[in-house]
Amino acid sequence: MIRRMATDARTATNPTPEFPAFPDTFLWGVSTSAHQIEGAVDEREPSVWDVFTAEPGRVKDGSTAAVACDHYHRYREDVALLAGLGVDAYRFSVSWPRAVFAGGRGLDFYDRLVDELCAAGVRPVPTLFHWDLPVTLDWLDRDTAARFAEYVSVVAERLGDRVTKWITLNEPAEHTLLGHALGAHAPGRQLLFDALPVAHHQLLAHGLAVRALRAAGASDIGIANSHGPTWPASQDSADVAAADFYDVLLNQLFADPVLLGEYPAGIGELMPGDVEADLKVIAEPVDWYGINYYAPTRVGAPQGTEIEFGGLTMPADLPFSVRQIEGVPVTDFGWPVVPEALTELLTGFRERYGDRLPPVVITENGCSYEGIDDQDRIAYLDGHVRALHRALAAGVDVRGYFVWSLLDNFEWAEGYARRFGLVHVDRETLERTPKASYAWFRDLLRAQR
Ligand code: FCB
Repeated sequence: MIRRMATDARTATNPTPEFPAFPDTFLWGVSTSAHQIEGAVDEREPSVWDVFTAEPGRVKDGSTAAVACDHYHRYREDVALLAGLGVDAYRFSVSWPRAVFAGGRGLDFYDRLVDELCAAGVRPVPTLFHWDLPVTLDWLDRDTAARFAEYVSVVAERLGDRVTKWITLNEPAEHTLLGHALGAHAPGRQLLFDALPVAHHQLLAHGLAVRALRAAGASDIGIANSHGPTWPASQDSADVAAADFYDVLLNQLFADPVLLGEYPAGIGELMPGDVEADLKVIAEPVDWYGINYYAPTRVGAPQGTEIEFGGLTMPADLPFSVRQIEGVPVTDFGWPVVPEALTELLTGFRERYGDRLPPVVITENGCSYEGIDDQDRIAYLDGHVRALHRALAAGVDVRGYFVWSLLDNFEWAEGYARRFGLVHVDRETLERTPKASYAWFRDLLRAQR
């Protein structure tokens, strides 16, 4: 049932009186990931990100995540911030290199965190892989998928009495593209299309993890894939073909195997192993489908030159070129702000996958802006929550929305230069200061109840 409810004017910082009401059961949350906030590197095994950040020039401000937000030691304060926000759920990730530390004692941290969350009335939603692969492993090896399933079983055994909602992987697309094809993220490989096995092995790991979770009694399982509409630079056939290809790489290559049990045309042949058999594992039914959405991409035919875009350098020999979207605001990261593309994405998913699409959860959405009085972030989130509501009204079964992110954190190759948090973190003192957007989101949630 969808209720209409006006914002409570006495508590609201939301300047807009009528915010569309979401279903009573809608899950509101915020997201983080282990490597970006935890710190405490001595209390875990090394990951590929530790090696990568130690290499000069890899991270723009030369920083590392050795301390990050020191969430490992300050998690109680951070859970109090979540409680103050009034979110239903908190999406965090379990660090695989921490989980295996000291014969499994590293998992004690997540035990404490989950207890703290439950005591605060916030539902824990762990992601089991958010890019921080143990340094001894490699996604080019098929065996890493099996090792992942073993680790997932151990985590499920340990936390499954209190955790009732799970995410297998975060954005295997970005981990493949940025980490293995372009070399902008750990482990820093530039394999271009030879990186495709990394995608396949992660998808296989996802399917095996779904099975491992079910075997451990879990029932509410999803994946967090990154998606966004791809817009051709023009209607010229070369631009349309390039945009279609990009759409295959970013969207279909990761959604089709999970939702349809098949690769888009021409991709399966490029994958290693017994692909048909693996697809049966990859398509193990999920209970919901997580989408991380930030922005659409305009794509045209190759231009024969290197392209700098959103912090990335794309080589000249790719079969497409990413272009600016003109006439829209951009975040500090240079990412275009186009809320209506979220509605387009979701209705497009519904059209493409029909009844094969389970309920959808937006597992990440957010923006990087400086400042504590972050009106730009409020405008971004306001626009996207409304766009989400339009998708709901158009019949897409959306069940939740998670803001990226709770805290300003280690934004991968950008270091600490990009601030995505609802809460400001002082880089010297690590002091937390809720921003204007924190109050805005809190008031939105209050008004929805
Ligand atoms: C996503 C990642 C997340 C964060 C945001 C800004 O691609 O999943 O860790 O870096 O982008």
